Amino acid sequence: MLTGPIPLELLDYVRDLFAPEDEPLKAMTESLRQNSMPEGWEISRDVGQFFLLVCRLIGAKRVVEFGTLAGHSAYWLAKSLPEGGKVISIELNPEWAKVAQANLERAGVGHKVEIRLGKAQEMTEALAEEVERTGLKYDAIFLDAAKAHYPEFLVWSERVLRPGGVLFADNVLRADSWQGQTLLDPASDDPRILAIRKFNAMLAEHPRFTGTIVPLRAGVAMGVYHG
Ligand SMILES: C[S@@+](CC[C@H](N)C(=O)[O-])C[C@H]1O[C@@H](n2cnc3c(N)ncnc32)[C@H](O)[C@@H]1O
Repeated sequence: MLTGPIPLELLDYVRDLFAPEDEPLKAMTESLRQNSMPEGWEISRDVGQFFLLVCRLIGAKRVVEFGTLAGHSAYWLAKSLPEGGKVISIELNPEWAKVAQANLERAGVGHKVEIRLGKAQEMTEALAEEVERTGLKYDAIFLDAAKAHYPEFLVWSERVLRPGGVLFADNVLRADSWQGQTLLDPASDDPRILAIRKFNAMLAEHPRFTGTIVPLRAGVAMGVYHG
């Protein structure tokens, strides 16, 4: 009988087989230390490989993500796109954006990534207006910042995602920064947890998305938009 969670060594085996650490990722992770940036906030290699797979499956060309940090997720997303594809990456911290830009240039994907500075929750309207003006919808969205705003980002995503496009969101099961509070404890009152519970329920019940939570690392929500 196969019971209990899959042993960690098997998960490590999968990650090392399909997404071994390459030089650009090594340098990006090192840049976190060198620049006194938070370590462990970046997506893991198995999450990156999952994004790569899904973006290639749907033929993604345009992606927007919230939260650049040192560029790990932007790197995976950019790798998944053909030449001419674009990742728009929104980051609040200008110093971290500079680190990410340098990392992405060094990794050979700088030309596919445009980092825009600002608060994601204050940039959604401009992003939607840009899509309406150009007619260029996004094939994929990755939410990894401003977690208390996830429910409103889900509502917004319908304005900018093309039918068949995919919404990803990180930390929908857990996060280091919740200070011991957990998703399922009814007493948890961290606004991010309350927002994520709401986001997960909205995605699960959404009439125009088919979604699930993939139990990789911190829990990655994924929803396919039917339009
Ligand atoms: C979890 S990290 C992103 C990790 C990144 N996606 C990766 O995998 O490497 C969150 C990032 O979002 C940025 N951030 C925080 N609040 C933000 C906001 N309101 N709008 C945009 N970026 C924000 C932080 O500075 C940080 O770099």
